[in-house]
Formats: sequence, C-alpha cells, structure tokens
Amino acid sequence: MKIIMIGAGGAVGKTAYDELVQRHEVIAVGRNSGDIQADIEDMDSIRAMYAKVGQFDALVSAVGHGHFGPVMEMTSELFMQGINHKVLPQVNLVLEGVAHINDGGSFTLTSGVLNRDPIRGGSCAAAANGALDGFVLSAAVDMPRGIRINSVSPEVLEVSREQYDGFFRGHNHVSNEAVGLAYSKSVEGCLTGQVFTVDHG
Ligand SMILES: NC(=O)c1ccc[n+]([C@@H]2O[C@H](COP(=O)([O-])OP(=O)(O)OC[C@H]3O[C@@H](n4cnc5c(N)ncnc54)[C@H](OP(=O)(O)O)[C@@H]3O)[C@@H](O)[C@H]2O)c1
Repeated sequence: MKIIMIGAGGAVGKTAYDELVQRHEVIAVGRNSGDIQADIEDMDSIRAMYAKVGQFDALVSAVGHGHFGPVMEMTSELFMQGINHKVLPQVNLVLEGVAHINDGGSFTLTSGVLNRDPIRGGSCAAAANGALDGFVLSAAVDMPRGIRINSVSPEVLEVSREQYDGFFRGHNHVSNEAVGLAYSKSVEGCLTGQVFTVDHG
C-alpha cells in the first residue's frame, strides 16, 4: 500500500510509522520534518500535498493539540484551539482526500484518552477527541467506494511520560508496540467507523 502519514516523526506517529513501514510504502509528512512538508492547518497546503502524492491507499494522521486549563478560566477562543489545531485539520484531510484515495482505501485519525477518562483541565482536549471519534463513527456510513475511516485513541504513551508528568495521575502508560498495532488494525484490517482505544499494553 501507498500510505500518507501525517506526523510520522511525532511520538504517536512514530508508532504507526515503525509498524507500517515494514510492509508498505510510507510517505512521512510534517511541517518541517518528513519526506514531504505540509501544514494541515492550511487547506492550500493540504491540497498541494495531495497533488504531489497522487493516488494513495491509506492516510494516517497523528497530529494536533488543544488548550489545557480549567473550565472556569476558559474562553471560547481558548476552547477553539482544540477545534482549530486538532479537529478541523484532521477532518479537512478526509474532506479533501476522498477525491484522491483509491477504492477500498482508509483514513485513520488520532484522538486520545481524555473523552473517556478525564483529567483536570482537559475539557478542551476531551471535546476535540469526542468530535473526532464522533466524526469517524458517522462519516464511515457516508464513505463511497469501500473506503474505511477510523480513529485511534491511545492512553498516554510511555515515551511521553515525562512530557505529561503530573497531569495524568493514575493513568496507565502504553507501549509504542501496542499503539502501533492499533494503527495496523485500522489500516490493514477490515473494520470501519471504529474508535480503536489503546488503554493497556
Ligand atoms: N503523546 C501521547 O501520549 C498521546 C496520547 C494520546 C493521544 N495523543 C494525540 O496524538 C496526536 C500527536 O501527538 P504527539 O504527542 O505524537 O505529538 P508530537 O510528538 O508533537 O508530534 C506531532 C507531529 O505532527 C507534526 N505536525 C504537527 N502539526 C502539524 C501540522 N499542522 N501539519 C503537519 N504536521 C504537523 C510534527 O512534525 P513537524 O514538527 O515537522 O510539523 C510531528 O511530527 C495529538 O493529537 C495528541 O493529542 C498523544
């Protein structure tokens, strides 16, 4: 398969890259890193990326961030960070990508644990995750030509433990292998409209 992987150089993206590159042609994409540079917050940049890559079989996106902070201190602008930096860029990859993906291809987006196991200050990220998980559930019904769409929703990665130290008290940390297998199932498996949670392993 020819697979476009947005954020392949990141903590989560690397798990998918390392798993899938063993068997497929994987084109890594980042704003500054990767085989191709694109900013998925910019629709023109998304279009230019698809024009450069041509037809493909699968797209994996492991990108995005939101605001962290208590609800009582949140403004609507801060809340929109989750929408603008995590939800819309990934949804736009699908909206633009449907015209370029081969029959039977797949889209895999990345959400995260916070909409099923909240932490203090995590409501913006939780809402973004919920939006993405809801999108794939319903978009799967509309997908033409046997195209599948799923999300992967990992717990905090072991490799990200230090970065999030103190924020996820009591949460499990998951291995690169466990997260990579979820991307494998989404890309190489048969299911659609699924949220593949990775809470253990
Ligand atoms: N880390 C965790 O434990 C964890 C757990 C659950 C869910 N998640 C979710 O997984 C996603 C990725 O997190 P991460 O920790 O892997 O982040 P990360 O380590 O910061 O990696 C982000 C990757 O995405 C690329 N990127 C960022 N913005 C981009 C843009 N606008 N256009 C194109 N590429 C872009 C970056 O490359 P460049 O710098 O070259 O742009 C980098 O390769 C996020 O949505 C996060 O919420 C993470």
